[in-house]
Amino acid sequence: MIAIASETIEQQANRLLEKSIIYYQQKPVGTVAAADSEREALNYDQCFIRDFIPAALVFLIQGKTDIVDNFLLETVGLQKKKRRVDCYEPPTGLMPASFKVESSENGQYLHADFGDKAIGRVTPIDSCLWWIILLRVYTKATGDRELAHSDNFQEALAFILEICLGPQFEMTPTLLVPDGACMIDRPMGLSGHPLEIQSLFYIALRAAREMLVRNTEGEVLIDKINNRLGSLVYHLRDYYWLDLKKLNQIHRYQSEQFGESVVNKFNIYPESIPYWLTEWMPDRGGYLAGNLGPGKMDFRFFSLGNLVSIMGSLTTEEQSLDILKLIEQRWSDLIGQMPMKLCYPAISGLEWRIVTGCDPKNTPWSYHNGGSWPVLLWTMMAACQKMGREDLGDRAMAIAELRLAQDDWAEYYDGKNGRLIGKSSRKFQTWTVAGWLLAKLLRENPHCLDWVCFEADTEAIACNI
Ligand code: GLC
Repeated sequence: MIAIASETIEQQANRLLEKSIIYYQQKPVGTVAAADSEREALNYDQCFIRDFIPAALVFLIQGKTDIVDNFLLETVGLQKKKRRVDCYEPPTGLMPASFKVESSENGQYLHADFGDKAIGRVTPIDSCLWWIILLRVYTKATGDRELAHSDNFQEALAFILEICLGPQFEMTPTLLVPDGACMIDRPMGLSGHPLEIQSLFYIALRAAREMLVRNTEGEVLIDKINNRLGSLVYHLRDYYWLDLKKLNQIHRYQSEQFGESVVNKFNIYPESIPYWLTEWMPDRGGYLAGNLGPGKMDFRFFSLGNLVSIMGSLTTEEQSLDILKLIEQRWSDLIGQMPMKLCYPAISGLEWRIVTGCDPKNTPWSYHNGGSWPVLLWTMMAACQKMGREDLGDRAMAIAELRLAQDDWAEYYDGKNGRLIGKSSRKFQTWTVAGWLLAKLLRENPHCLDWVCFEADTEAIACNI
């Protein structure tokens, strides 16, 4: 693409975002994932729910509410569509990973993918969580509570909450999911209770509580939400948190402890602390671990889950500041030449073979396995603004601006410091464009921050043990 010489980066971003809009029956309903004419489209010509979030926020800040309204209405309709994997019918509460406009002799229709067509048949659990979060953003931005309060939308919320809060074979308040159920939609060792899902679950529950009509059914759901939020926040703040003090505790943990009041509840073996972490953990700062299950802690740093936790006040004020301190102290690893790392560090060798199933796209320091994703800029900026660390957000933006337009808004970057454009990265990736634009708009319109952030919760039933 040849940019008109006088076009600023911002003008270019706005033009590309406009060009990415998908129309259905002459109405804007979403945006394509990427508009790269040099690569096979696969499903990148579809509107992904998760990819649309930063674009939706940009549109709302710019007062273009129609497209978000249409998107919400159409996806509510899709939620009820039948979906099938062979003879199995997954539950109604799921929202599709993506959808596409198709044509037949009867006119246009929307075709949704619930993971029944996606590579690896991954379940898009984050879609329904992002959907609730977007509904709250829309309501806050427009002041229109009617849409969320309509029967159709209350039913959609209830469907989602039914799967999330329903009975499960679990002893923890976290949401149990299969691998690849979120932005990292390929095998990367995320099955169980990955942080990204837990942080989205937390803010989706808080958003749902604000959106539910307080009638008899609504009150029942709100009670359930308040119970779950209290135990969820306790569990994550306590058991997922890692800093030098905690690392010292784990290093000296006794294992095989039986009974109710033991210290090492999840039977984490000190030997499982990876070598890199003992050097990498700064004296000041900390973060939430990537995953936790019986006898197993994933010590990797996942950016999205940590930043969303700050935005949603899932972490305490002190923990939130500590996460940003860690990013500051490990700047070259996490921000490097392109903000920012999806996860750190990469897995390699035998571990890569076992965990990814030898995925050639997720080789060390590429794609989901330690690649850098500019879309994360908006969450970085929002978290920084919330905690009064705009200086860090500005530094990250200054780095990104040097290359994003020049590299045709690449999907992701490779290499330890994010210097190389991703091996299979697409150009003109919509959420790269929208992520950068949104970070810029949030910085200029701090009053919009509260559409995506939450103050500390005072309603949940506190977990007192
Ligand atoms: C890749 C990403 C996924 C994204 C999709 C469309 O599959 O892993 O998170 O939604 O591309 O951009």
